[in-house]
Amino acid sequence: MRVGVDYYPEHWDESRWETDARLMREAGISVVRLAEFSWCKLEPEEGKYDFSWLDRALEVLHREGIQAILGTPTATPPAWLHQRYDIYPRDARRYPLGFGTRLQRCLNHPVMRRYSRLITEAMVSHYAGHPAVIGWQTDNEFEANLCYCDVCADLFRQWLQRKYGSLQALNKAWGTIFWSQEYTNWSQIPLPWVARCGQSHNPSLWLDYRRFASESTVSFQREQVEIIRRLAPHHFVTHNLMGLHDSLDYFALAQDLDFVSWDNYPGGNWKEAGHADLAHDVMRGIKQKNFWVMEEQSGIPGWEYIGRRPALGQIRAWAWQAVAHGADAVVFFRWRSCLYGTEQYWHGILNHDGMPRRRYREVARFGEEMNRLSAELDGTTLRHQVAILSSYEQNWALQIQPQVNGLGWWEQVRRFYYSFRRLGAGVDIIPIDADLSQYRVIVLPSWYILTERDAQRLSEYVRQGGTLILNPRTGVKNERNVCRTEPLPSLLREVAGVEIDDYDPLGTDENRIRLRTGEEFTVSVWADALILQGAEEVAVYAHSIFAGEPAIARHRYGRGTVYTLGTYGEPALYDTLLGRVLDEAGVETMPGVPDGVDACWREKEGARYLFLVNLRGEERSVPVPGCVTVLLGASPQGGMVNLAPYEVGIYRCS
Ligand code: GLA
Ligand code: ZN
Repeated sequence: MRVGVDYYPEHWDESRWETDARLMREAGISVVRLAEFSWCKLEPEEGKYDFSWLDRALEVLHREGIQAILGTPTATPPAWLHQRYDIYPRDARRYPLGFGTRLQRCLNHPVMRRYSRLITEAMVSHYAGHPAVIGWQTDNEFEANLCYCDVCADLFRQWLQRKYGSLQALNKAWGTIFWSQEYTNWSQIPLPWVARCGQSHNPSLWLDYRRFASESTVSFQREQVEIIRRLAPHHFVTHNLMGLHDSLDYFALAQDLDFVSWDNYPGGNWKEAGHADLAHDVMRGIKQKNFWVMEEQSGIPGWEYIGRRPALGQIRAWAWQAVAHGADAVVFFRWRSCLYGTEQYWHGILNHDGMPRRRYREVARFGEEMNRLSAELDGTTLRHQVAILSSYEQNWALQIQPQVNGLGWWEQVRRFYYSFRRLGAGVDIIPIDADLSQYRVIVLPSWYILTERDAQRLSEYVRQGGTLILNPRTGVKNERNVCRTEPLPSLLREVAGVEIDDYDPLGTDENRIRLRTGEEFTVSVWADALILQGAEEVAVYAHSIFAGEPAIARHRYGRGTVYTLGTYGEPALYDTLLGRVLDEAGVETMPGVPDGVDACWREKEGARYLFLVNLRGEERSVPVPGCVTVLLGASPQGGMVNLAPYEVGIYRCS
């Protein structure tokens, strides 16, 4: 397990490097990520590479015992390359997105591909034998190549040709007879460019374009990975993902990586804050193994506007929270706040003045602790009995047709995730191809696009004894994004023992449901009226539309159970219902963890470790069941431990 920092020696005078390296070592930092935005300095002129500055920086770091991960610098192509070739991506109005920030490249453009291979080859051959270099980060924070340029249009048409074989087949699959869109030549097929009715293109075209744009990025990365594997087979390859980002199929991207990394800014910036726990679990689920945090917040975030200062102790608490959820390394972003550029106010461990101050001392404390506990915690990981299935493709389909507010993919995941966590159950977030048999309870958020194969896997899971929870909008479409004709939930109808007779897209309007046990809850977003076909009634609509008709049903199928939820409810509904589901399925839980405390278990053969992280600025009292050894933090008394604000406890439990 490692502590690291993102370092930009090219931003600073060389005379400072030794001080930086020494301060890093003294803070327990043993790895740096370097060079991911330095293309203009590595290749100042076309074909003229200059690694001398990076060699010198690595030498200074290596002397302090610090190892390095190098980033391929392709997120920031240099000005000379743009002057010579137009590789700018086009937006949906086909307008070029030009120079001056970053990511100004179409990943499908053959010139971008060629120069990316050349710089990668030059870098990897230069550093393959370097004693300080241990691995590579491809590019930086990949997204799907949602580019609308002519190169992309041509490649998309070729992709469609491979997929459908003939125009006749494509016309049939997409239903292009609607609005007289039948294509008679491949070159007529548009990208989802802005058109007379905005971007309300055929949903089948849209979904294929999203798949194509995602695959474009995966294949761009693959070219770099192949070079690294060929020239430096002893180095690892990773990429810094973005947690709950969703344009790119991370499952596909990560197949080419040794492990995933991600960039964690729990204090938020202009984006939404506060889902680090969920995002960590999503990241662990990508390869179903431990991960690295390649950028961990270490100060005030900000570009033109800036966010709040993390409270004293909060940076350390967030770092331990990452480890609690399966991080094997925490690399802080970044060493020192830069004097210039767009991210002048994205503060690092050091301020602009370069003096070691309170954030440095906090990171150093974490560094000392991580290094001390590393041998003991090495090889531990999280194991759970509950999973939520995840799919980028479902998410895209719901983005293409949001239908009503509240059906968004992560909104659906959050409802279940946070209820399970409140009930004391850890959760894995995994693809449908994972080994499902290890889970007692599986939630299927709206599986809008349902293939025969997926339906088969899910039915088999239930038949073998699993508990499956279905939500509205399951099985509405086939893989072409065309509506199915089978009564909903289409291919899962028999397993669920219900049929949907009617529905009402409630959006933000509300209704009420009543459980058979008497409790009433508010529901919204969507209402399916269920007809029971073998299932039993768990809840009925209590008022207005569908009053008296089943809203939630339970069905025994094979050795397992299916719950069909015809609507979305307030948090208390999930806490009540899932509490019963967990009991019934015999899932082990750790109840009684107060709000604001993140509790996780990491385990290995013969040992279990409880991590408690108080994320709040107030003291919290937490149960510590059967734990014997204190590895970090306060000692339990009478089975309880008091955690001071932002404090962390780690316990070995038998
Ligand atoms: C991302 C990027 C970094 C930096 C930080 C802060 O995570 O990977 O290069 O821009 O955000 O904005
Ligand atoms: Zn393009």
